[in-house]
Amino acid sequence: MKRQYEFYTVRGYKMMNAEKKLLTSSMEDYLEMIYRICKKEDYVRMSHLAKKLNVRPSSATKIVQKLRDLGIVDYQKYGIIQLTDKGERLGKFLLKRHNIIEEFLKNIGTEDTRLKDTEMIEHGVSFNTLKNIDLLNKFLLDNPNIIQQFEEFKRDYCE
Ligand code: CO
Repeated sequence: MKRQYEFYTVRGYKMMNAEKKLLTSSMEDYLEMIYRICKKEDYVRMSHLAKKLNVRPSSATKIVQKLRDLGIVDYQKYGIIQLTDKGERLGKFLLKRHNIIEEFLKNIGTEDTRLKDTEMIEHGVSFNTLKNIDLLNKFLLDNPNIIQQFEEFKRDYCE
């Protein structure tokens, strides 16, 4: 059976690549968080964003201004931040990338450090590797017995 694999964030990735030199890991974290919140609320206040990211509002303001200068967010007054179309596509890619890495770590059995490791890996992973990991996740979802075998293998190996 031939199946279609569509990596639907390709466009987001291409945009990401174009911005790569401009976006630091920290800016990526901000954008991912803004996207997470705006998916539900449509906008986010600076104070709320700073709280979610565990930073001072003054630090958050500096980074958000940089994102604004790149045309990724609208930020004018009253501390309200909204994503532009470009910001929306980039943010969607960042969240997808995060979820792919997190799912992979779950599949290989990483528990305690899963979130921390995801945050480390996501900023540096190449598009090709991300695509392969995404395919592996899908493969494992279709073949749950493989995960089970792997867990048994790990148990035997570690005893
Ligand atoms: Co993340």
